[in-house]
Amino acid sequence: MDPKIFKAIKYGTPVLLVALAAWIIWAPPARIGFAPEQPIAYRHDIHAGVAGQKTFDGKDQYGIDCQYCHTGVTTSKKAGVPSMNTCMNCHIAVGYGKAGVDKLKSFYEKKKPLEWVRIHNMPDHVRFAHAPHIKKLLKDGQPTKTACVACHGDIATMKTVEQVKSLNMGFCVNCHRDYRNDAEYKNHGVNVNCNTCHY
Ligand code: HEC
Ligand code: HEC
Ligand code: HEC
Ligand code: HEC
Ligand code: HEC
Repeated sequence: MDPKIFKAIKYGTPVLLVALAAWIIWAPPARIGFAPEQPIAYRHDIHAGVAGQKTFDGKDQYGIDCQYCHTGVTTSKKAGVPSMNTCMNCHIAVGYGKAGVDKLKSFYEKKKPLEWVRIHNMPDHVRFAHAPHIKKLLKDGQPTKTACVACHGDIATMKTVEQVKSLNMGFCVNCHRDYRNDAEYKNHGVNVNCNTCHY
């Protein structure tokens, strides 16, 4: 083989491998900013924003707890998205005449399911569950809302949900590293072994 080519392979390969590894770990956060239009213009700021304060456009906020709708956060893998029955607990009585609420009711009456567009999503080879994370963060004395901020940003101020964190491997591993080095957490399931997060 031409010694120049041999040299190129010898020195080039490790550089390529490092670049590939860096790409995998710090892959560009393609989904940051993803904020799809939903079938109903449901607003987190109005429903879950601090009660007694106003939204940016002057609407009342009601401070409903995240767990009222996302019931799975301390018990299962999935946080879950509420069914229309949950919405109708209130909207049987409030919000008449508002475009979004009337649309909600017509879906409800026709028994037509609301197909919310999924925003945050892990690839199939990644293991992730809400419950252990939220339980731990709550035990540390964080209120539910704050427990969601690390990975979802401040949803309670959003008119439309938007992905604001990369949720790439580097993001997950960084936090696991912090906790792993914390004496209190040493004996918990938090670590940076590949098979912690990969099937
Ligand atoms: C009254 C019910 C209700 C409350 C209260 C509520 N949510 Fe939601 N949430 C929804 C619905 C409906 C969707 C799906 C539509 C959308 O994305 O806006 C959703 C979507 C989300 C998503 C995006 C899901 C995805 O597809 O990736 C996150 C994250 C989220 N909520 C977090 C929160 C947090 C954090 C709180 C508390 C600060 C909260 N929610 C309070 C009803 C609620
Ligand atoms: C705990 C009570 C409660 C629940 C549960 C609830 N809402 Fe509401 N929602 C309200 C209140 C209160 C308002 C403000 C009504 C008003 O201003 O007249 C509101 C307002 C709205 C509006 C109008 C927003 C605007 O632009 O002014 C929409 C649309 C809406 N809700 C959709 C939903 C959907 C979809 C769900 C289920 C995922 C839901 N709501 C669950 C209490 C609730
Ligand atoms: C440690 C990071 C992390 C924290 C903390 C976190 N989430 Fe998530 N959340 C995710 C990831 C990752 C996904 C995508 C999961 C998937 O695709 O399986 C997700 C998905 C969701 C979804 C979409 C539906 C579902 O069940 O997958 C909702 C709704 C949601 N989260 C709400 C919340 C709420 C509410 C809180 C706070 C109580 C919270 N999350 C805290 C990382 C987190
Ligand atoms: C805010 C810090 C933080 C972030 C961000 C975070 N984790 Fe964790 N994770 C923890 C802690 C703390 C535990 C230990 C919980 C326990 O066992 O008590 C944990 C445990 C786990 C476990 C083992 C528990 C189980 O489900 O069996 C998995 C898997 C996991 N995390 C995956 C992920 C993935 C994937 C991401 C990125 C989407 C992520 N984590 C982001 C803090 C974090
Ligand atoms: C704390 C959780 C966590 C740990 C530990 C972890 N990963 Fe990952 N890994 C992820 C997440 C989350 C993704 C998906 C990133 C994305 O979609 O942007 C990922 C993606 C990957 C990919 C890219 C696959 C693709 O679809 O492009 C490879 C390869 C990979 N991990 C290998 C590893 C290896 C090898 C280790 C051990 C040295 C490891 N991971 C440890 C969370 C983790």
